[in-house]
Amino acid sequence: MSENAKDEAVAIPAQSDGTQSEAAGTATLAEDAAPGEVLLKVTGLQKHFPIKKGLLQRQVGAVRAVDGIDFEVKAGETLGVVGESGCGKSTMGRLITRLLEPTAGKVEFQGKDITHLGVGGMRPLRRDVQMIFQDPYSSLNPRHTIGTIISAPFHLQGVEPEGGVKKEVQRLLSVVGLNPEHYNRYPHEFSGGQRQRIGIARALALNPKLVVADEPVSALDVSIQAQVVNLLDDLQQELGLTYVIIAHDLSVVRHVSDRIAVMYLGKIMELADRDLIYKTPMHPYTKALMSAVPIPDPSRKSAKSERILLKGDVPSPIAPPSGCRFHTRCWKATQICTTTEPPLKELRPGQQVACHHPENFEDQAPQDVVLLSDAKEAAELVSEKALADSAATSAAVAAEVESDEADEAEAERTKDAGAAEDTEATEDTGSGDKPGAEAAEVAESADGADEEPPAKGKPGKPGKSGK
Ligand SMILES: Nc1ncnc2c1ncn2[C@@H]1O[C@H](COP(=O)(O)OP(=O)(O)OP(=O)(O)O)[C@@H](O)[C@H]1O
Ligand code: SF4
Ligand SMILES: [Mg+2]
Repeated sequence: MSENAKDEAVAIPAQSDGTQSEAAGTATLAEDAAPGEVLLKVTGLQKHFPIKKGLLQRQVGAVRAVDGIDFEVKAGETLGVVGESGCGKSTMGRLITRLLEPTAGKVEFQGKDITHLGVGGMRPLRRDVQMIFQDPYSSLNPRHTIGTIISAPFHLQGVEPEGGVKKEVQRLLSVVGLNPEHYNRYPHEFSGGQRQRIGIARALALNPKLVVADEPVSALDVSIQAQVVNLLDDLQQELGLTYVIIAHDLSVVRHVSDRIAVMYLGKIMELADRDLIYKTPMHPYTKALMSAVPIPDPSRKSAKSERILLKGDVPSPIAPPSGCRFHTRCWKATQICTTTEPPLKELRPGQQVACHHPENFEDQAPQDVVLLSDAKEAAELVSEKALADSAATSAAVAAEVESDEADEAEAERTKDAGAAEDTEATEDTGSGDKPGAEAAEVAESADGADEEPPAKGKPGKPGKSGK
């Protein structure tokens, strides 16, 4: 973030200050949850996408994208959600932001059941819950200036921030480390990292309480990923935001999450405090995911001597395996795993696991010790050397994210020296300018209506700190 942005951040009252909200005539859904109180509660949440065939479009099956998940998110915390492609992460994100209607289950925000709220009922909630989308190339309308894009929420809600919309949008640009003078530029004039910053500014316009970020950095180059992750972290510190951050990359969520949920085929396999999940993963699937992440942590080095490569494809979510749905790829699977679904239960304080034979804990089905014949073939162990050889993107991200803030400050000083051009110059190194015009149009018309939230009269203000 630039010095400019930091100055702005200091000059602006914090999120808890309700002045602007009152000035704008907006009402909050409920009393703000105090840090540590449950902000979002999800119970038995399901989303089954129907599969229809024939002239009569009869339903012949369903994609069980999210198939009964339970979790809570506390105010001020970051919940990371990881899992392989297609396991239902994005669907879960869209369910909790109510961009999708659940098939079953319950979503509560600040104690209020919002599962089936209509458009009108959702209006106040839209101010409080925002989403940042994965692809910075397709989530911004290429025909709109960034000023128009970021000011849209204010217009949609009829909110006039103190000092006017333009001034507020420029402040938001500063907050996310962009040059306020670029208000009239178009998305294609920005690099990928800068576009993601624009998406973040748009999400912050309404001063939300909960931000769901769906793979916010996966489309970006490694060095830019670290900048955006740090920005999200700084904004959380400054604004007291609560995050649900979805990612493929465990090294990304590791640095920003307080707790981590591991998903597989529409279910949560393990949900635990960040340190527990990294030091003593209990679910075999978590262990396999973890072993694939090279982490420059000497304390873990001794514990991890091999990499677990899961064999076979992820089964179809149309017909997930019986019992434990990981049993077709689990090297510990026994008979009970094929017939009885293990419940997600707290086996250790702060660590919930759905497994009959967890790692680092007593067996939950000790009588059922005979491995399935397939189980022995389900995973391959790779040596530490091979693991070291393959250490690439995630390790680089980890190193970047952890890098000294002094480097950042130095870079920012350099940027400021370059005045108006600086921000762009810094990020242009990494992301390239893929076009994405038509895609962007589609995305914004598809998502925009719901994403562009209703504005709250008090916009966010940034600052610099660190987790
Ligand atoms: N609108 C839809 N209609 C039918 N099926 C869908 C729809 N959206 C998602 N799915 C299916 O639901 C499953 C979960 O998709 P989702 O996008 O939530 O996965 P994901 O974990 O976000 O994957 P990725 O990491 O690739 O983004 C997939 O099998 C997907 O094909
Ligand atoms: S041991 Fe059984 S219950 Fe545990 S993850 Fe493997 S298949 Fe599932
Ligand atoms: Mg996704």
